[in-house]
Amino acid sequence: MTTTPKRYTVTAALPYANGPVHIGHLAGVYLPADIYVRYLRLQGRDVKFICGSDEHGVPITIRAKKEGITPQQAVDKYHELIKKSFEDFKVSFDVYDRTSSQVHHETASDFFKKLYADGKFIEQTTQQYYDETAQQFLADRYIVGTCPKCGNENAYGDQCEACGSTLNATDLINPKSTLSGAVPVMRETKHWYLPLNEYELWLREWIVEGHKSDWKPNVYGQCKSWIDQGLQPRAVTRDLDWGVPVPVEGAEGKVLYVWFDAPIGYISATKALTPDWEKYWKDEETKLVHFIGKDNIVFHCIIFPSMLKAHGDYILPDNVPANEFLNLEGDKISTSRNWAVWLHEFLLDFPGKGDVLRYTLCANAPETKDNDFTWKDYQARNNNELLAILGNFINRAVVLTQKYYEGTVPARGELTDYDKEVLGVLEGMPMVIATYIERYRFRDALSELMNLARLGNKYLADTEPWKLIKTDEERVKTIMNIALQISGSLAILMEPFLPTSADKLRNMLSMNPAMWADAGSAEMLPAGHVIGKPELLFEKVEDAAVEAQVQKLLDTKKANEMANAVADPAKDNISFEDFSKMDIRIGTILEAEKVAKTKKLLKLKIDTGIDQRTVVSGIAEFFNPEEIIGQQVSILVNLAPREIKGITSQGMILMAENADGSLAFVQPSKQITNGGTVS
Ligand code: 2FM
Ligand code: ZN
Repeated sequence: MTTTPKRYTVTAALPYANGPVHIGHLAGVYLPADIYVRYLRLQGRDVKFICGSDEHGVPITIRAKKEGITPQQAVDKYHELIKKSFEDFKVSFDVYDRTSSQVHHETASDFFKKLYADGKFIEQTTQQYYDETAQQFLADRYIVGTCPKCGNENAYGDQCEACGSTLNATDLINPKSTLSGAVPVMRETKHWYLPLNEYELWLREWIVEGHKSDWKPNVYGQCKSWIDQGLQPRAVTRDLDWGVPVPVEGAEGKVLYVWFDAPIGYISATKALTPDWEKYWKDEETKLVHFIGKDNIVFHCIIFPSMLKAHGDYILPDNVPANEFLNLEGDKISTSRNWAVWLHEFLLDFPGKGDVLRYTLCANAPETKDNDFTWKDYQARNNNELLAILGNFINRAVVLTQKYYEGTVPARGELTDYDKEVLGVLEGMPMVIATYIERYRFRDALSELMNLARLGNKYLADTEPWKLIKTDEERVKTIMNIALQISGSLAILMEPFLPTSADKLRNMLSMNPAMWADAGSAEMLPAGHVIGKPELLFEKVEDAAVEAQVQKLLDTKKANEMANAVADPAKDNISFEDFSKMDIRIGTILEAEKVAKTKKLLKLKIDTGIDQRTVVSGIAEFFNPEEIIGQQVSILVNLAPREIKGITSQGMILMAENADGSLAFVQPSKQITNGGTVS
């Protein structure tokens, strides 16, 4: 679409209501979508921003089982939590619906019925795993077994998380049902398939030939590779008791595949929003854009469009600007490992700083490759960019206007070449930023926005109105007028990225409602307009605040290591004689001190009951010398003496090693007389 479309339908992937949302979700999908939509609204375009919770499928039933609640209770809980996180981060959906709604069930059901009636499906009976104890067919995620590729004994029916291989449930060695533990049997079941192979030629023409230049390379590349490999019929029904029932006879106990019903959720959410929904889905002059993460590409570019095509009444997406993934401190974000920054927790730790996170995530968005979020970067983006550049410029402009003119915008006098150059850049900026946004290049757009603030700062630093005020009051009026025009434009142009701060700035400048087209004007804040009082837009993020977050992650890492610890395999057998050669006694630590110039060594004096002796032990990282004096330990007393750092060590203290590498003494459970034997 090259001309301006009549209207826009913008969707953001429906998140599974099986857990809270984290920074990866925000950076990958919801933030870019929100920036795009806020920008379109400022352009006065007709746009509907659609989202909601994806409440069906195995991810939901697994979560419910884990928490010991019903699937309905699980989706009720997470739907509310997710919805609130989006509101708190100012993601401005026009509707945030849910796929468990009545309207959605009807819409998805009708969609299926139309395709069924038009003969668009093929019916196929296949053998699938069945759990006779639980009396149900098993979704891939409900089967575990040994991975044929790497031997991991806990591989799932669709994937081995140890080696990353994609699997079929029938590939697993020794499969087991996670529902009952039973060995599943093969049983016949009938399902309906969408013959994607029949859409291959059309998809090739539509995507491979039609969208080579306007879809992002990562999206285009994935689609092309799928199509080049040849498409197969895809089952759109499942044997499961949670979801939209398959609305045809002979399908009892079956539901629509979650990836069949979820994207239809975009349509039902639009229905819930407006009675006018059809023009947002059926009029060729509507531009449909799906914002998603890269793991959703095939569903939004191949399967859903084929469904829409098969149906025949709907428009197709104009673009699917999928992002890559965001990592966290060098590691993949993972819900099960709790390796994430959860949106609802962030705001508890950093109240009022939603914009700062939006800024950091956009500045470092995984637009073309996976990227890494670090707390150091978060702090630096806030302190060195938002605060030092944008906040500082606005503050100077507003404070000086209050000081010199009691808040009244002064008139410009004659313009220097420098003034003209600055006003020229200002005038062109809305177009520069708009072009980036319309091409889904939000990082570049944000970087241009900051360049405008940088320009403002430089203009003030170069012209030094605070010095000039003593010698040339007229000139200062022109300078401050220009600085205020830049400030006013910033208030509009920053709105898509930093909505809360933009509101604050608009209030500070007492601005009337303005549109994108107003930005860049030299008359944004006309002479005589009175602005409000200065307020700080951003505050410093202190070292302690980010250090606490890093510590939280280190604690998580440690907890994960402990939870996943696997004991070392047993050593070869030894005889009792071998064991009884060791003379192990209980002794008491009398003295303890660090061995100079070493990190790990402590010099201990032990009362062994036999004698008092010196032992050098590599435990300094885990114990404070003062705190261990008086403690009882187990000591191997007949180990041949050894020279360590010039000290003769007579024996060895027995230590137990924890999964995280930390050490503990092996101690008697009650006081024992020194010299007591251990056997
Ligand atoms: O990957 C996910 O989180 C899915 N719930 C996305 C669904 S998008 C759409 F099709 F609804
Ligand atoms: Zn494996």
